[in-house]
Amino acid sequence: MCGIVGYVGQRNATGVIVSGLQRLEYRGYDSAGVALYSSHRKALVRVRSVGKIAALVSRIEKDVPDQDGLDYTLGIGHTRWATHGAPTEANAHPHFSRSGEFAVAHNGIIENYVALKERLVQKGYVFTSETDTEVLAHLIEECYEGDLHRAVAAALEQVEGTYGIAVISSRHPGLIVAARKGSPIAIGVGSGETIVASDISAIINYTKKVVFLNDEDIATITAEGLDISSLKNVPVSRELTHIDWSLGQIEKGGFEHFMLKEIHEQPQALANAIRGRLLEKDGTTHLGGIRMTSAEIARIRHITIAACGTSYYAGMVGKYFFEDLAGLSTDIEQAAEFRYRNPIIERDTLLLAISQSGETADTIEAVREGMRKGATVLGICNVVGSTIARETERGVYLHAGPEIGVASTKAFSAQVAVLAMLAIVFGRARRLSGSTGRDLVRELLRAPEVAAAALEQEPAIKVIAEKYARAEHMFFLGRGYMYPVALEGALKLKEISYIHAEGYHAAELKHGPIALLDEHVPVVVAVPDLHGKSKTISNMQECRARSSPVIAIATAGDDEVNRYSNDVIRVPRCLDFLTPIPVVIVEQLLAYHIAKCRGCPIDQPRNLAKSVTVE
Ligand code: G6P
Repeated sequence: MCGIVGYVGQRNATGVIVSGLQRLEYRGYDSAGVALYSSHRKALVRVRSVGKIAALVSRIEKDVPDQDGLDYTLGIGHTRWATHGAPTEANAHPHFSRSGEFAVAHNGIIENYVALKERLVQKGYVFTSETDTEVLAHLIEECYEGDLHRAVAAALEQVEGTYGIAVISSRHPGLIVAARKGSPIAIGVGSGETIVASDISAIINYTKKVVFLNDEDIATITAEGLDISSLKNVPVSRELTHIDWSLGQIEKGGFEHFMLKEIHEQPQALANAIRGRLLEKDGTTHLGGIRMTSAEIARIRHITIAACGTSYYAGMVGKYFFEDLAGLSTDIEQAAEFRYRNPIIERDTLLLAISQSGETADTIEAVREGMRKGATVLGICNVVGSTIARETERGVYLHAGPEIGVASTKAFSAQVAVLAMLAIVFGRARRLSGSTGRDLVRELLRAPEVAAAALEQEPAIKVIAEKYARAEHMFFLGRGYMYPVALEGALKLKEISYIHAEGYHAAELKHGPIALLDEHVPVVVAVPDLHGKSKTISNMQECRARSSPVIAIATAGDDEVNRYSNDVIRVPRCLDFLTPIPVVIVEQLLAYHIAKCRGCPIDQPRNLAKSVTVE
């Protein structure tokens, strides 16, 4: 949720940290701060500011002397998404200990902070913020006996909850100590410099060699490299991962927003997701990372999918795939609910955890619960080396490239493509014939071209967006494969335009929500020329009878829907299982252009975070 960057090396740490924070700003942007070690003053210097990184930058320019010199070669920074305490300067990280000698940037939540705080207050510690994090800074100082690593470990031993932290001290001018439990920490190993961050996008400008910490790892980081041990001080070794994301991929590349860039990247993201995985001749797919034999696949009797947000809706599309294409009964569960219920997991259950970031706290816990109960667990993630990817040890990467826009777009279509490939492999081990498999594979090969055709509708979508941008409420309807897509369309719109939007099954509308319809409530109906279309047309008529304007997303050349719609947006004709991709692209563009007309901060919508690493 929040972002952390730390630097130790020969460069000016301020520049590295600020540019890293800018890349992480999508993770949290209500306040930000840096703490630097001044070799001149032999003390820590801190600057914090409410608002976006730009505000922090002007404060640094004003308040940090010598910022262009090499006075600061060690520092940590943080961009915050508030949990405990409002977004104020006092609550912004890094937090200092009482003496000002220790600074901490923290992601996660210290659950027992009230008890810890009471104890520290009794000992005379004065708190200057309402955050849970400040207890860590004081605890580290309290535990310090000359060794920063040991002091951090001793402080963390007392803590319950989750953390990804970076700590510096004026007593150790060349050192950062970082640790994780539940919140990601990656360490980029450069030549003569080391960068620690909560997300690799802050690192890859400097090095592609990255080490990811596991839970309860604690790292001692210097300009020369790092040593990792457990909290109990037992040395551990973690692999060096080579990251192949380029800098260009994490920049806007001429687009006004990351979201628009990522919407337009979908043909490429889909091409990458399916590359080398479709076996046309055999009518099946090859997903090496699942590491299951055909016999193991054939033994699976039930699939449970756990995910959050957009990944959850992609999972819902997946449920239809597994039932339709593989004949496998499938449940889709909100990960937060799954982990706290007592889910029934038989030995022949496959748990699929879907997460773009691979860091969503509830989905990680669903994975752990599934493993405890003996399920075979596969992760479907985009971010290489993320927690879910590592803990599941098997799964499928999306290869969609970095997704920076808070509202997920290209990850959804890549997830749909990956789920279709999985369903084909599972289907072929069960009831799907070679010839149907070949038809499906050939259709999936068209995914990039189908996505590109949907993108061509952008000028028409823009005009429609302008027409409805002032609405205060909107509905999204669909049935069959279009039902989860309607839910995702409503989510996109509410996330970035703040219009109240609801997704419903087209038939369900009349069981209540239809009471809300009138001429001010537009209804977006996904009604491609597929099985069930005539029933959806009846539902469109129900909306029109209540004076609601109807915006249809319909198949190119299908003029029947025109009569029942105020506006029509076209998607290319394709088999039913592929239709979610072009339709969702239309919905993404509609949400984007409506939000733009309303002047919303599209890449950083209020209150949202890209990666939700707390419960
Ligand atoms: C947050 C994001 C959503 C995302 C969801 C799940 O809520 O704002 O865009 O869909 O988390 O994220 P994941 O990384 O697990 O797919």
